[in-house]
Amino acid sequence: MVATPPTETPRVTQPAVDLAHLRQLGINPNHWYAVARSTEVTTASVGVTLWEQAIVLFRDQQGAIQALEDRCPHRQVLLSHGEVIDGELECIYHGWRFSAEGNCTHVPYLAEHQKLPTCTIRRYPVREQQGFIWVFPGDPERLAAAGMEPLELPEWDHLNYIATVSIIEVEAHYSFLIENLMDMYHGRLHDDFQAWANPVLADLSESPGCVDVHYDAESYYRIDKIWSVSQLFFPALRKLHPEDLYVSYPYPNWVSTLGQDFKICCLFCPVSPTHTRAFLIHFTSLQAFHRLHKLPVAFRRWIKNSLFGAAQTMLDGLVAQDVLMLEQEQRAYLSNPQRKGPELNRAIVAVQRLIQSQAQSLSPEEDIP
Ligand code: FES
Ligand SMILES: [Fe+2]
Repeated sequence: MVATPPTETPRVTQPAVDLAHLRQLGINPNHWYAVARSTEVTTASVGVTLWEQAIVLFRDQQGAIQALEDRCPHRQVLLSHGEVIDGELECIYHGWRFSAEGNCTHVPYLAEHQKLPTCTIRRYPVREQQGFIWVFPGDPERLAAAGMEPLELPEWDHLNYIATVSIIEVEAHYSFLIENLMDMYHGRLHDDFQAWANPVLADLSESPGCVDVHYDAESYYRIDKIWSVSQLFFPALRKLHPEDLYVSYPYPNWVSTLGQDFKICCLFCPVSPTHTRAFLIHFTSLQAFHRLHKLPVAFRRWIKNSLFGAAQTMLDGLVAQDVLMLEQEQRAYLSNPQRKGPELNRAIVAVQRLIQSQAQSLSPEEDIP
């Protein structure tokens, strides 16, 4: 994959973001959000939370994913605690059933003279794409008009990429996580897990929906020999060499590439102002192995599937180290919201501006004061 270098945005003086306010800002709901991995939703229903909205995911009789508000309209209990029967949701309490459209279709004790109650449940636009389930929590009319799509992950199905997924659960506002991901100057924290070193911010560009940053950096890894994977296990085999490091914040997600060999994405599912769930996906490229590409597709798929999760130890290690820092930042913020330290990385300031402008693009009634 070849990333296009961003161009430098002319510097203009912009008002500073009020950090005490930023850490309480809501999400812009008019985007697609990844809420689960496809493999998490099989025959049972699954409850997820996206910015304080409880949502139940389940599969209909065709196997298509469906998303409804996770609330039985009878007594307001969670529908996700019930069962999926013939592609419909059956509430665990009195056994009322609801269709994928959110209509009540069956009440076990309905008397002959009684009609089924009309109690519709909110239905969310939902997509299953490249291994993840995406929900659009915003205005469906705006979705139809804008034709927005979930973030593309073409490497997920491509036979030349090996994927690893780590799920981030962090007791912190999502702004802390995206600032961490855009800030390449915290390699000190990661020690042996870090793939790159010596970053220097070279270019930065901002648009209403994205921040792109290019760092000149060095990479420890080069995936050009069949035994390159051994670099993951033996640090002595790693040799630093110059490599471009790109990080982008195409709101509300994060994408990064390190040279031609690595791509990492982070799909954000902000749960509440103090809890963020996210899916960190690491792709290692096998593009350099031309002989491999001539092998039968079934064999290449077997290799791809067998190596799924090859970078798990590294990715989980990175996540654990970052989570520790983010939760300390959140606790420090809660104990003194007005305290703020100096920020030397202008990528972080750009990210804060984007979070604020996206949150404020809501109508005043929808915004969090
Ligand atoms: S609470 Fe769900 S059926 Fe009664
Ligand atoms: Fe990190």
